[in-house]
Amino acid sequence: MKRILFVDDESNILDGIRRMLHADRKRWDMQFAVGGEAALQACEAASFDVVISDMRMPGMDGATLLGHIRDLYPSTARLILSGYAEVTLATRAVAVAYRVLSKPCNGPELQATIERVCTLQDIFCTPEIRRIIGTIGELPSLSKTYEALSRAVHEPTASMANVAEIIEQDVAMSAKVLQLVNSGFFGLAQRVTSLQSAVAFLGMDTIQNLALASDTFRVFVPDPRIPKNFCETMQQSARRVALVVRALPLDKTVRDVAVMAALLHDLGKLVLASKMPGDYCAVWSLMQERGCAEFEAEEQLLGVSHAEIGAYLLGLWGINNLVVEAIAHHHHPTRIPHLGLDSSAALYVANLLAHEIDAHPNDLQGEELSKSDRSCLETLGVLQQFPAFRVRSLESLNEDAKAGPQGLETNTSR
Ligand SMILES: [Fe+2]
Repeated sequence: MKRILFVDDESNILDGIRRMLHADRKRWDMQFAVGGEAALQACEAASFDVVISDMRMPGMDGATLLGHIRDLYPSTARLILSGYAEVTLATRAVAVAYRVLSKPCNGPELQATIERVCTLQDIFCTPEIRRIIGTIGELPSLSKTYEALSRAVHEPTASMANVAEIIEQDVAMSAKVLQLVNSGFFGLAQRVTSLQSAVAFLGMDTIQNLALASDTFRVFVPDPRIPKNFCETMQQSARRVALVVRALPLDKTVRDVAVMAALLHDLGKLVLASKMPGDYCAVWSLMQERGCAEFEAEEQLLGVSHAEIGAYLLGLWGINNLVVEAIAHHHHPTRIPHLGLDSSAALYVANLLAHEIDAHPNDLQGEELSKSDRSCLETLGVLQQFPAFRVRSLESLNEDAKAGPQGLETNTSR
């Protein structure tokens, strides 16, 4: 049973949460602490899987409490509840919390968020993931630029100018970040030529993720046994999925997270190609033999796919939890509850569309979807809209192909 701790300085709010989640008492062991000190005492007495704290509390506020919990109990998931007016406080909370929920939070949203966090924890604790991470051995560290950037973003006094300055010192990273910013994925009306404007337009979190996207291809170098065009094909595929995300009807926040997730969604393949090339070649052989998708061959041979491997690594690197979550579930979106077309569902839909269009570029109706994909789309509530999404996606991909050589068609596996 998952252990969940709720923290607030007002006991009547905790009573409200207790009543709201009454139906969940059989699946979650829920404890309630009045204030930060009491919460730390409760954590000392017995560990928790998730801690959900109010932001504004006298004495120790939510961000300070979750900072202590991060340092003392790193495997505990941390969520924060914050009012709309507390923008400055919420910025501090982002550094220590997996997710910031707006107050007042309704029952279904709170339940869905807790469930999603717990599912991710479970996936990352499986023996299969542990075995793969053990086989990979020491993980490569990211560039000094990225480390400095990551530290700067989490400083309470973080400034856009400082973040831009750090990236500017790394020519390769600057070029890649600006290329991604101007790629059309983020819908910016004008061309951005300076990193400072890029940070101002997209925010520090997105810029940090873009810097990571550029770094991953420097730290993981595929083994010589892997085909030479592997990295290029993977980046092309990521780019196409990001373009399809752009074509979906999403609001800006959801879209920015989904674009980031699209750009990084197959990172696990790169990890396998560089760290477990023998197993990865066996995956490809099985895929060809069975005519199945790559993730299915990986699941059969390794017990886990590139989706979970990539997400695990990105989680270790401190990437936005929504991006991590979208990547972890990009082949099995219905493992978690969804409230509409969120970033996680959007990545699955875009990935499916991009590959379906690659396989049948001239078929306006699209091929008959597999039973499992149909059922996923139905559960996500977008089966009816799928043909319209396909038309918009095809237009977006065709426009991109006309615009330049980067729009070359690729044929890759999911
Ligand atoms: Fe994938």
